[in-house]
Amino acid sequence: MTNEPIRVGVLGPGRIVRRVMKDFHAGQGYTLAAVASRSLERARQAAAEYGAPLAFGSYEELAACEAVDLVYIAVPHPFHCPLALQMMAAGKHVLCEKPMALNEKETRAMADCARDKGVFLMEAMWTRCFPAMKKMVSLVKGGAIGKVNHVYAVFTASSNYDPASRAFDPALGGGALLDIGVYPLMAATQLLGWQVESVQGACEYAPSGVDMRLAAQLKFPGGATAQIMGGMDACGPSHLLVYGAEGCITMENFWHPDAFTLFGRDGRRETYAFRPENEGFHHEFEEAARCIREGLHESPLMTWEESVAVSRITEKLRREANILYPGE
Ligand SMILES: NC(=O)c1ccc[n+]([C@@H]2O[C@H](COP(=O)([O-])OP(=O)(O)OC[C@H]3O[C@@H](n4cnc5c(N)ncnc54)[C@H](OP(=O)(O)O)[C@@H]3O)[C@@H](O)[C@H]2O)c1
Repeated sequence: MTNEPIRVGVLGPGRIVRRVMKDFHAGQGYTLAAVASRSLERARQAAAEYGAPLAFGSYEELAACEAVDLVYIAVPHPFHCPLALQMMAAGKHVLCEKPMALNEKETRAMADCARDKGVFLMEAMWTRCFPAMKKMVSLVKGGAIGKVNHVYAVFTASSNYDPASRAFDPALGGGALLDIGVYPLMAATQLLGWQVESVQGACEYAPSGVDMRLAAQLKFPGGATAQIMGGMDACGPSHLLVYGAEGCITMENFWHPDAFTLFGRDGRRETYAFRPENEGFHHEFEEAARCIREGLHESPLMTWEESVAVSRITEKLRREANILYPGE
């Protein structure tokens, strides 16, 4: 185990990286070492803006850089798998933006590669690393609302249709399910387990053929159920409701939460409030750095097995809705 800060290299400085960097330097145990872009000019600009000592005009140079331990992959979904494989083959640990990959085969290949190379790999489901989410999950797992029987979760966004946007472009893995629907789905699998008994979806399409909105219901072994929805044309709060036999938990904007309320069967009502977050992405970098320092290859908060299982579910929902990406 090393006490040195984990040196992070950012791959693909686009929109999400701009948000991530708002809090990046607030985290402990890691440091920004490099930025790599397909354009040296963009890499230099981003490195200067975000405070990285190194800038590379190709992703290959990042893979070869000895001053980088962990590569944060922040490119559109279809490039997650090939770039993660490339980085891990070069011995880098990888924190990969969600969704881990386009489909089950790719996600499994990434997990297999991490195992073969003995490196850390984590899907960047940042939500799970928030103090409010960790507290809520520990209360639920500790029986605070009894047996969890139903999870209801929605992630809403109100985006204008734009065929040039990554979110609507099939060639860039567009569609509501992979962009935002994975949050409610993974809220359900975190609380109810990733082995689902059945899943059925219903979807509305964007003019480009990807899902504008996708809702699904799931049944889990042991009888629990879940309803989830990710909608790019749905305006309103993104709620998580966890219904137990002895109480309920409500969490608003659960994808980056700072509070939740527990309602007991006995009429008790308790609100748990945490320090409001700016963006809050530093929590996932702290988690990745902690795991790497402790010699772990996966985080208990987001295991490879669950990433593979979730990509199996999203692939099933997509195939049934006839949403296939180039090459599938
Ligand atoms: N955790 C979250 O809350 C969150 C939020 C938004 C997005 N995400 C995830 O982050 C990933 C990136 O999303 P984003 O919105 O940041 O994407 P983006 O801005 O469209 O693209 C990010 C960067 O990817 C690089 N890139 C490499 N190959 C590309 C290609 N063929 N086409 C376009 N860009 C390419 C580009 O950087 P260079 O050319 O400079 O290398 C680009 O700036 C997605 O997988 C998304 O699901 C996560």
